[in-house]
Amino acid sequence: MRLVNLISCLLPLAVYAESLNPKYHGLPSLREQAAIQDSWRDERLANIPQLLRKHGVDSWLMSQREYAEDTAFWSLKTAIEFSARRRTVHLFFASAPEGMQTAYKFVDNTKAVFEDLKELLETHQPRSIALNVDADVAFAGGLHVGMYNELVDQLGPKWSNRFVEAPMVAIEYIATMPKAQLKWYKRLQETAWAMISEAFSEKVIEPGKTTTEDVEWWLRSKIQAMNYSTWFHPGVSILYTDIPFRPEPEPPAGRKVIEYHDILHVDFGVTALGLNTDTQHLAYVLGPNESRDEIPQGLKDGLRNVNQLQDIVRENMIVGTSGNDILKSIRAQMKQKDITGRIYCHPIGDWGHAAGTLIGMTNLQDGVPVLGDIRLLNQTYYSVELYAEYFVPEKNNTVKFYQEEDVYWVEDNHWDWVYGQQTEFLVVQTKDKTGIEDGLKTQL
Ligand SMILES: *[C@@H]1O[C@H](CO)[C@@H](O)[C@H](O)[C@H]1NC(C)=O
Ligand SMILES: *[C@@H]1O[C@H](CO)[C@@H](O)[C@H](O)[C@H]1NC(C)=O
Ligand SMILES: *[C@@H]1O[C@H](CO)[C@@H](O)[C@H](O)[C@H]1NC(C)=O
Ligand SMILES: *[C@@H]1O[C@H](CO)[C@@H](O)[C@H](O)[C@H]1NC(C)=O
Repeated sequence: MRLVNLISCLLPLAVYAESLNPKYHGLPSLREQAAIQDSWRDERLANIPQLLRKHGVDSWLMSQREYAEDTAFWSLKTAIEFSARRRTVHLFFASAPEGMQTAYKFVDNTKAVFEDLKELLETHQPRSIALNVDADVAFAGGLHVGMYNELVDQLGPKWSNRFVEAPMVAIEYIATMPKAQLKWYKRLQETAWAMISEAFSEKVIEPGKTTTEDVEWWLRSKIQAMNYSTWFHPGVSILYTDIPFRPEPEPPAGRKVIEYHDILHVDFGVTALGLNTDTQHLAYVLGPNESRDEIPQGLKDGLRNVNQLQDIVRENMIVGTSGNDILKSIRAQMKQKDITGRIYCHPIGDWGHAAGTLIGMTNLQDGVPVLGDIRLLNQTYYSVELYAEYFVPEKNNTVKFYQEEDVYWVEDNHWDWVYGQQTEFLVVQTKDKTGIEDGLKTQL
């Protein structure tokens, strides 16, 4: 019996030991970063003809003005391009006649570009030309109406009659993450964890003094110090007294000064090398001189409960299934296991909220229109974002255990944590300073 207990105690500890000490990863020089990003880009561009064939279109056309870029532009550009220039036109073909290429790019401020385009179209004779004009999916809807009208006018009915919508081309292009990115994505993720671990510690938080906003700005400064950037302002809140995900620009509702025995929540992401992360973790502020052993058992149990929900989500993410069907089976299993909560998972990568299907949204637990009908793609990254409620006797309250971790698709068709899963509360552990202060007073 004791042996069994010992083993069951050791296992979670062993898992945590690895994630307890996430390390900071610096970035290489800007020049090296550009080379890395461009190698990923080359791999993605090479996949476009195959992607067009998969979705049954012969070509894909984008046209944009400087500062009014198509959403797909940001996943097509090189690392040293900072915007489109003049009128930038991209044209891709599913296949090419002998000796011709499948990818073309024009930068031109004269109408001559349309003569070049028509010539190319005559040579390649595409039966369909996909445009990014989708009304529901940002990633497949970036063609501006002025540009669209110009394409219709300039290319004439012969070609504009072949314009089609094929949103999955842009979605899959933007969603697909080359294998070589993973090494760096793991480093970014570990760095995000390291920042959260430091932020939610006595190094940054002094109970009774530090505010949640202090911690948010500490995180922003840390991002800058590491030469990273981010895609959203960090959100730090004290559960019960403040509402996570408060609508902007409304000020937070409750108390901001962090006190002993508070439960802290953070929603945090970093950006580097064109990749984005998204993480939510929880921390507990121990009382003076308290140790980790004094974390209320109800909080530990609640975390275990939400960890179970994270695993249910991961196991239900079957490639080829729609986000809405995945959501349905997750919710059925939640009911079976008596877990109450909400599911709102999203793709991540080139964008914080990237291209691909959604598995729930905070306000949509019975399915997400349009976006939820897309089928889950392989070779993508996802944010498993959710909460599970749990009654914590020590707080005499039902606590929402918010968690978010990024996962990546593995060849043998399952999803792994990019860095890890939070299985233990982070703690702010402070020594009672009364004794020291008294000592000082005496000296004075
Ligand atoms: C950030 O960039 C500066 C300037 O290149 C460099 O001196 C510093 O070491 C970098 N910091 C980190 C943490 O990589
Ligand atoms: C991804 O899924 C597609 C089917 O949609 C399949 O053809 C392809 O081989 C899969 N990719 C990998 C790397 O397994
Ligand atoms: C627990 O909370 C309930 C209402 O939420 C209240 O009626 C009850 O008195 C509380 N119990 C204790 C021990 O504070
Ligand atoms: C905490 O520890 C310090 C030094 O060990 C001691 O002086 C102080 O009385 C302790 N405070 C509490 C609340 O136990």
